[in-house]
Amino acid sequence: MVHASEEPFNAEPPRLALISSYVTPVDYFYKRNHGPIPIVEDIDRYFVSISGLVQNPKDIFMKDIWSLPKYTVTATLQCAGNRRTAMSKTRKVKGVGWDVAAIGNAVWGGAKLTDVLELIGVPKLTSVTSLGGKHIEFVSIDKCKEEHGGPYKASIPLSQATNPVADVLLAYEMNGEPLNRDHGYPLRVIVPGVIGARSVKWLDSINIIAEECQGFFMQKDYKMFPPSVDWENINWSTRNPQMDFPVQSAICSLEDINFVKHEKITIKGYAVSGGGRGIERVDVSTDGGKTWVEASRYQKPGIPYNAGDSCSDKWAWVLFEAEAEVPQSAEIVAKAVDVAANVQPENVEVIWNLRGILNTSWHRVHVRIGHSNM
Ligand code: MTE
Repeated sequence: MVHASEEPFNAEPPRLALISSYVTPVDYFYKRNHGPIPIVEDIDRYFVSISGLVQNPKDIFMKDIWSLPKYTVTATLQCAGNRRTAMSKTRKVKGVGWDVAAIGNAVWGGAKLTDVLELIGVPKLTSVTSLGGKHIEFVSIDKCKEEHGGPYKASIPLSQATNPVADVLLAYEMNGEPLNRDHGYPLRVIVPGVIGARSVKWLDSINIIAEECQGFFMQKDYKMFPPSVDWENINWSTRNPQMDFPVQSAICSLEDINFVKHEKITIKGYAVSGGGRGIERVDVSTDGGKTWVEASRYQKPGIPYNAGDSCSDKWAWVLFEAEAEVPQSAEIVAKAVDVAANVQPENVEVIWNLRGILNTSWHRVHVRIGHSNM
């Protein structure tokens, strides 16, 4: 792993390792923390208290969670800061520097949040409780400096939390193994299709609240501002917290600058969109975006990928691949299109924002035939 910071611990895998399999091994899954990683030792005494604007507040123990039907959801988790380093090259941004691998695709196993909420009397498809609860706040065990020593927290709308097709999980497994400490042992939230910041790890309590969570990471971070906003004129309350992530792709078989021996190269990477929108196309160019060819897309070997097919994983990335002949020197570009025909923006300048989030601009790498000392 490439360490982006030691305390708190933040790390991403090398590009090539990231796309070596459709399901990202836990060891190669990026780790994003805002504080020290907590230790939960006594699993029998661990519980999540659910309270707030509900008739029947309750403490839920792991045995209660384990007794609910277990769902497995293959979902890509992506940090909103993925590809921040490249955005920083245009104009300085604030935040942990990430290359293109603050993203991973895992098979999450756990209870559906809808089923957990039914235990406390909140039925499926509830958008407001009888006491006026409209949002569900997840509060963690870990403490971070941005919250002045308080816990990490985030919320999602209750309508999403109680919608079975949104597949929001309280996950206790990752790739068939119990969650490890890095990824939220013993229990974390997985909100598919939404920036990773809302998938709270090391869950401590759940509050049903009237307004969205007022925590730092909802109100003073992870919001997408226009390029005109800087640290002098920012007004955080003018923007909504970022939820779904936009269409994204990155080339992972090549570094930013490459020296290759032969004209024929393989261009491989990942593409994903938020909100469960599948990937309709990945276009690849070897001339900086003047002409394009379509890359092949796949999830599972031997099964053709088609967004919307019942055998495709709707919350998961696709890997893409294209063979190309390159001239002496070439700019290779990838851009993805999702099923709603959303396309990645051509330039990073138009989406530059002071926190350096959601760099989804066309991904570009440079290839030259020859040796690095030429
Ligand atoms: N949950 C807690 N409790 N503390 C955190 O620092 N980081 C969030 C989210 N959940 C975080 C958290 C962010 S910004 C991301 S991108 C994902 O967890 C990263 O999850 P991972 O470390 O399992 O990859």
